[in-house]
Amino acid sequence: MSTDPLVVFTPSGKRGNFPVGTPILTAARQLGVDLDSVCGGRGICSKCQITPSYGEFPKHGVTVSEDALSEWNKVEQRYKDKRGLIDGRRLGCQATVQGDVVIDVPPESQVHRQVVRKAATARTITMDPATHLYFVEVQEPDMHEPTGDLERLERALHEQWGIERITADLTILSRLQPVLRKGKWQVTVALHKSHKDSTHKVLEIWPGLTEERIYGLAIDLGSTTIAAHLCDLRNGEVKASSGVMNPQIRFGEDLMSRVSYAMMNPGGDKEMTNAVRVAINGLTESIATEAGIRPFQIVETVFVCNPVMHHLLLGIDPVELGQAPFALTTSESLELNARDLDLTVMNENAQVYILPCIAGHVGADCAAVALSEEPGKSEDLVLIVDVGTNAEILLGNTSRVLACSSPTGPAFEGAQISSGQRAAPGAIERIEINPETKEPRFRIIGSDLWSDEDGFDAAIATTGITGICGSGIIEAVAEMRMAGLLDESGLIGSAEQTGTARCVPEGRTHSYLIHDSSAEGGPRITVTQGDIRAIQLAKSALYAGARLLMDEMGVDRVDRVVLAGAFGAHISTKHAMVLGMIPDAPLDKVTSAGNAAGTGARIALCNIAARAEIEQVVRQITKVETAIEPKFQEHFVAANAIPHKTDPFPDLAKVVTLPAVAFNTGGSYAESGGRRRRRRG
Ligand code: FES
Repeated sequence: MSTDPLVVFTPSGKRGNFPVGTPILTAARQLGVDLDSVCGGRGICSKCQITPSYGEFPKHGVTVSEDALSEWNKVEQRYKDKRGLIDGRRLGCQATVQGDVVIDVPPESQVHRQVVRKAATARTITMDPATHLYFVEVQEPDMHEPTGDLERLERALHEQWGIERITADLTILSRLQPVLRKGKWQVTVALHKSHKDSTHKVLEIWPGLTEERIYGLAIDLGSTTIAAHLCDLRNGEVKASSGVMNPQIRFGEDLMSRVSYAMMNPGGDKEMTNAVRVAINGLTESIATEAGIRPFQIVETVFVCNPVMHHLLLGIDPVELGQAPFALTTSESLELNARDLDLTVMNENAQVYILPCIAGHVGADCAAVALSEEPGKSEDLVLIVDVGTNAEILLGNTSRVLACSSPTGPAFEGAQISSGQRAAPGAIERIEINPETKEPRFRIIGSDLWSDEDGFDAAIATTGITGICGSGIIEAVAEMRMAGLLDESGLIGSAEQTGTARCVPEGRTHSYLIHDSSAEGGPRITVTQGDIRAIQLAKSALYAGARLLMDEMGVDRVDRVVLAGAFGAHISTKHAMVLGMIPDAPLDKVTSAGNAAGTGARIALCNIAARAEIEQVVRQITKVETAIEPKFQEHFVAANAIPHKTDPFPDLAKVVTLPAVAFNTGGSYAESGGRRRRRRG
């Protein structure tokens, strides 16, 4: 048995015996304890902070005396005077082992600390990004030993950090000499390591030990919106989240119209590529400003996107995606220089990672949902629906995972809706309709009060009531159905049929009036027959996609449903079910996640092992192509009814009774809906 002192680390529980005089940082490294260090033990970065504990520890079988660690030294005192150090903390590279000791590693000193995801299914992300900062001391040049500065930097990184091989672009080479000399042969480098090989690439270099932080962007590049999270690459903290409309909308609202634009207009694909790249540069600028950082600190970006967006971002003509067999140029993941995509606002050496696509129209956004929600690890059969202009749908469990993409169109994002708007202050997001009086009450984004509560008018004085957002329109249509204002086929009844003057004629159809402030110059917010139609088309495409996967799996029921998407966190699961967006399931088994594709992008940004994992997982996912599957059309037509023409909804029937109203006696509106042209969104 060793007579050397015992060192026990918490919370890991790792323990080992070390000779007197061993620095705690060295002991931690030898035991594989997660203790951070940027300066390599020189006492200047403070990343290695630890908290020793003294006294009796029966659990660990040790007694720690007051002199278990070396005395507080000058380096620690200097650090404390300059930057401050919490009482009881020591620097792990300075404190050495003198006797048995219990050492706690606080979360901020753990390199691979876990970040709890803020979502219904709390999942942790282990921090291990591709880019890290390293402080090194480089040997000065010597006439008698002629080597280049880069070679000596490489040697220093090898000796001090065990890094094998580095590469550096001209942008770094051109600054290397002045930076090395300015830093008196001490520099901090940002090194990016691919998960595919062992090469490290120098992305940025600072003289001395830098105080700068480095950041990454996780971007969900959608057909309608581009959403970005700016993350601190040390701890995964989301410093800012922002989004802009995808400017390609001016070339076509949905994906197929953009492919058509590229087909019909020579150079049209280049126009769209340019538009989206300009928008991403603008978003980079604004998100950096919002977070109070400089754009050059952004050294990495991860993209998730559908295949058409993928090709247009890369500058590849998407024409092949407009026709069967929907061949992608590549479905592999990609590692690129940001500047090759004209992303010039972020660091000039910033690296881009694009998740792999699954196949055909099932893209990297679907792969990101799979990474975030992990259907392949679910024991029960889970249906995951990521709602956007193009819905990503996954069905699976530990034995098999299927995926498809369905062209829902932008209605769920508030587009193509007469009073629709993006989710922003002033937008109606919740609505209830009294089944007796048919009167509505609602809540808008920016206030917690319902419209019939005291103080509502004062609460909304600054925002006003401006329109209705995606989650609001879903609730409105479902509430209209529950209140008997809408029949199964989707027709709005007249004032006589429904008994409310809020059902007003509009041409040959009717609209339901939610709010009218036109007398004061404000908007008149209604749900029109056209709005119902747009929602019916969107929800039918969603449902038909899900049904197709269920057919392929050979099941009529799923065990649980996860609703994700830009408004996934806000969507009312009951209303989604009344509408028939998703197949019937017990309501307590229907949960909401946030933007799962965006979360998948964030996971891939913060953890390179996740990149390898998803590249492996996508190979095991079976793609189902909705566009060529004849059954899709059949399911689509049946799903036009609210909630559905033929499929039973027994679980929904336990909680909601839908009135048996019918407002049309002629041809079925649902059937005519089925004949309308569907477009991939
Ligand atoms: S490792 Fe940098 S201060 Fe200890």
